[in-house]
Amino acid sequence: MAVRYNADTKTFILETANSSYLMEVSRYGNLLHMYYGARIPDEDLDYLLTFQDRGFSPNPNEVGNDRTFSLDALPQEFSSDRSGDYRNPSVELVWGEGGTAFSGKVAGYEISPGACVIKGMPGLSGGPKENVDTLVIRLEDPVSRVEVRLAYTVFEEKDVIARSVILANYGTKPLRLEKLMSATLDFRDSDYDLIYFTGRHMMEREMRRIPIRDGVHSVGSSRGTSSHQYNPFAILCEPDCGEDHGQCWGLSLVYSGNFLIEAERDQYRQLRVNAGIHPKGFSFLLEPGEEFQAPQLILAWSGQGLTRLSHIYHRIFRENLCRSPYRKKLRPILLNSWEAAYFDFDDEKILSIAEAAADMGVEMFVLDDGWFGKRDDDCSGLGDWTVNRKKLNMGLSELSRRIHGMGLKFGIWVEPEMVSEDSDLYRQHPDWCLREPGRPAVRGRYQLVLDLSRKDVCDYLIESMNRLLKEMDVEYVKWDMNRSLAEAWSGLLGRERQGEVFHRYILGLYYVMDHVILSHPEILFCGCSGGGGRYDPAMLYYQPQIWCSDNTDAVNRLKIQYGTSFAYPISSLESHVSVCPNHQTGRTVPLATRGVTAMDGVFGYELDPTKMSAGEKEVCREQIRFYKRYGKVIMDGDYYRLTNPYENRYFTAWQHVSQDKKKSLVGLVITDKEGNEAQRYLKLKGLEPDAFYRIEGRKGKFSGRLLMSAGIPVPNGLGEYDGLQIGLKMI
Ligand code: DGJ
Repeated sequence: MAVRYNADTKTFILETANSSYLMEVSRYGNLLHMYYGARIPDEDLDYLLTFQDRGFSPNPNEVGNDRTFSLDALPQEFSSDRSGDYRNPSVELVWGEGGTAFSGKVAGYEISPGACVIKGMPGLSGGPKENVDTLVIRLEDPVSRVEVRLAYTVFEEKDVIARSVILANYGTKPLRLEKLMSATLDFRDSDYDLIYFTGRHMMEREMRRIPIRDGVHSVGSSRGTSSHQYNPFAILCEPDCGEDHGQCWGLSLVYSGNFLIEAERDQYRQLRVNAGIHPKGFSFLLEPGEEFQAPQLILAWSGQGLTRLSHIYHRIFRENLCRSPYRKKLRPILLNSWEAAYFDFDDEKILSIAEAAADMGVEMFVLDDGWFGKRDDDCSGLGDWTVNRKKLNMGLSELSRRIHGMGLKFGIWVEPEMVSEDSDLYRQHPDWCLREPGRPAVRGRYQLVLDLSRKDVCDYLIESMNRLLKEMDVEYVKWDMNRSLAEAWSGLLGRERQGEVFHRYILGLYYVMDHVILSHPEILFCGCSGGGGRYDPAMLYYQPQIWCSDNTDAVNRLKIQYGTSFAYPISSLESHVSVCPNHQTGRTVPLATRGVTAMDGVFGYELDPTKMSAGEKEVCREQIRFYKRYGKVIMDGDYYRLTNPYENRYFTAWQHVSQDKKKSLVGLVITDKEGNEAQRYLKLKGLEPDAFYRIEGRKGKFSGRLLMSAGIPVPNGLGEYDGLQIGLKMI
């Protein structure tokens, strides 16, 4: 069993293949965090707890005269506000009598096989066959009559511990919950770096690494979505931790809404990390008997650096998170109409683009925004999910029939969560959007947000999306979402419950996705929020791939895809070749290089092939043939970041290696040039050291050990923005 309780030492022991996580019940019943790191045989870590009389660090009443026991100094699993611990707490609440403290002592525990169920929200699945066990520890506070249940699901073979928290109000009066973190992780020391992922629309998930300093460093979102600006994923690591060595801890929140990840170095140079729903704009009223569950946080530890940490997340997301049957399949190579035509098309134009795409070897045509309602630009039409006959006179069924007739699959774009003021839906239901009473709503991209905290709105969306999918013969749906939420006010909730709206919106979204996406397993769904504004594990539960960014510039994409790869599998990252000069940056990059960058993901096109020369089309045909040969390695293989684009200004390189190490593909793009350059070498990774490999297009054979230790010379003849792919096969 991956989970044990040692009654002699009062220690809970969680074990994965390579890590151990230990907690101890203190002599006063508090649950103390003892250890999370390399797997250890020891079960008594009591010696690690040190006690001192520390000024201005108070002592709980039950310890009597023992001035050395202070929650301000001890490492805890769940910390409460107003308990004499002044670090950022796991919980903030106002219980029935108006008190704000929660003094939870261990009152029991349960160990059961299989993963913990996260009600109404996505989470990891796994059964006893996979050695998955769940420990639930109950903390009770007899005064407030609040119970907290801390859940730890241990995926032994996958080296993952998933945490969640349920807080129940067993008092006789309502309780107001103002903060509930999914997990608190206390470290005894704090000489670590924090890695997080930040950005903006069209430049998402840029990697940042900073040393932990005194005080609090936090990242998060209060935009109602997980956001372009910060990703709900962070890493703590030793200062010398690199791709292949050093300890690191990952935190990944399975949530698509407002989140907070905060790292605090305290006065005693200890570190506390909290992760969960952002308390800003959050409060939840719990009537007597009601409970609240926080979303799941996926923890992983690696003693072999960041690459190993990424492999842990890639594997668990692919195998235990994503529900789509497509998660293990090769995805069709698609051409999307957005950058090809934007809103400006009719059926003739669409058919000619599709025909040219089919001729190039593309496998699916996706009709993006603009096919429905009165949608000639982004100012109108959202909510009216019926075909615009002025543009598509033949209607969608006929269009889809014709496209299928070309041997292509057919996909479509929707944005179900939004409404335009100029739409029939809005005219019928002006009260269905989020907006404060008496105040006109804040617009984003000229659109308003439907109030998904309302069940009637969600049921309407389920009905209208399912009707649309029934009427149309589609194999792919791109589910977009193009603005941040501003107001979080729902017409159906009383004023004391408005703090629930952000979270209820997300629960509503999951409810809609449960009934639309999960009820159509035959359709490949692609997530999108202005590109990667909702690139989070919860979206990957529903959709195996996400449009990585609205920025298709092959050079900017190197950084975006680099950052994305730390947590998210390459099989989740949609990446397309577009035209040059690039529509977002104006940069011109060779077509071949655009292919190299886009093949570092789920490959496709975003251009009008009717405007391409015969030569350009031939380049695309060759790209498609090449991708099909390496598609499986890219989708299921292990991923290696060979360079850091923030440190190596000359080139960016990465590598996919099949699980059996027999096949590998290296991608490389030159990012800067100098006169009379030094010869640079690229050291490969992940190969079988004693096996020999052939390099496509080169004579001879090379041992894995040689390729990994001496490397391959980067051809000096390559110019700025030239790209290169190196295919390897074991012999
Ligand atoms: C934002 C998406 O990221 C784009 O790819 C495109 O689908 C537009 N929305 C359409 O409005």
